Amino acid sequence: MKILVTGGAGFVGSHLVDLLLERGHQVRVLDNLEPQVHGAGRGRPEYLHAEAELVVGDVRDRDAVRHALRGVEAVFHQAAAVGVGQSMYEIERYVSANSLGAAVLLDAIHAERKDLAKMVVASSMSIYGEGLYVCEGCGPVHPRLRPDAQLSEHDWEMRCPGCRRIVAPAPTPEDKPLYPTSVYAVTKRDHEELFLSVGEAYRIPTVALRYFNIYGPRQALSNPYTGVAAIFSCRMLSGNAPSVFEDGLQSRDFVHVRDIARANLLALENSGADYQAVNVGSGRGTTLRELISLLASRIGYDGHPDYVQRFRAGDIRHCSADITRARKLLGFEPSIDFEQGVDDLAAWARTQRPIDAVDTARAELARHGLIRQ
Ligand code: UD1
Repeated sequence: MKILVTGGAGFVGSHLVDLLLERGHQVRVLDNLEPQVHGAGRGRPEYLHAEAELVVGDVRDRDAVRHALRGVEAVFHQAAAVGVGQSMYEIERYVSANSLGAAVLLDAIHAERKDLAKMVVASSMSIYGEGLYVCEGCGPVHPRLRPDAQLSEHDWEMRCPGCRRIVAPAPTPEDKPLYPTSVYAVTKRDHEELFLSVGEAYRIPTVALRYFNIYGPRQALSNPYTGVAAIFSCRMLSGNAPSVFEDGLQSRDFVHVRDIARANLLALENSGADYQAVNVGSGRGTTLRELISLLASRIGYDGHPDYVQRFRAGDIRHCSADITRARKLLGFEPSIDFEQGVDDLAAWARTQRPIDAVDTARAELARHGLIRQ
């Protein structure tokens, strides 16, 4: 097939491009080579597979999109602005790049390529807000964010919205109510709903993959607005202590980027998940403390993390994926366990010379009142 990957020069997109080429597909990439991710004035990233055709352009540019769609039989939409915190003070930029970007792409698909065999869109676990929890007394609960008054007491764990007892995190299924807590998350819900509704209307088989916290080689280590595994790698490589919000016992479902790429391929090759949203994660929660100790041993960092006794506005406490649907509908099984994955991340990170701009980005968040005590 001839396949378009938007954002194909990025972290997830480029791994997907590798896999599609390996399967014998022809791949075109539409990517704006965003300076925050790729560095200012840099051209085609050296890791982007030589056989991928690169069209440099923005997903909001109708002409670039039309050109990129020529002859294409399937589309993977991976292009997005991804900084959760940054989205709270660059609201227009995020809504424009993500929500409007999806709209322009879908308009062009409708006009030019109604006969697509598949559309796969990158959605995000951030649309859930908090994950699913179980209360000993009240059973399964879907709490909203922890109140500021609780967090300012440094009482970090999630409490039952009914009886205030501490609740235990449980794997989160796709039918948990969606409570996006950032502009970024709202735009990811837009991605998912725009693609699924347009796909449904025109009978273009469409799958929305709800990615959990992705880590691995090629994540932009010098981008201080990216995910925590890349940020901590950058800090440690620069000899700086990673700054930890809350108490480091918050957890995320860290999923290796090659597993994410494989889930995309499965969505292309199977029809089981068509017109649906599907979680893609490891199925397991890992605390930041576990991440730090593993990463430090693999990177060779012997300092201590800095527990800053603060919290980030809008952060959730725990969320891991229930991957039953991905298993059943796509035959997806995570193949890289966390230790192996961190080995892989660290081995690659050690070959990089990232610029540590994390303090500046944190000061910016604080200036906007988004880091609290
Ligand atoms: C992340 C991604 C989001 C993606 C989602 C699901 C970013 C910024 N966020 O959101 O795009 O949709 O996963 O894949 O890329 N933390 C620290 N110190 C730091 C940075 C973070 O303690 O220097 C903590 C945070 O307070 C939070 C946890 O690490 O408790 C995870 O943060 P982050 O990596 O930003 O993940 P999400 O907010 O889950």
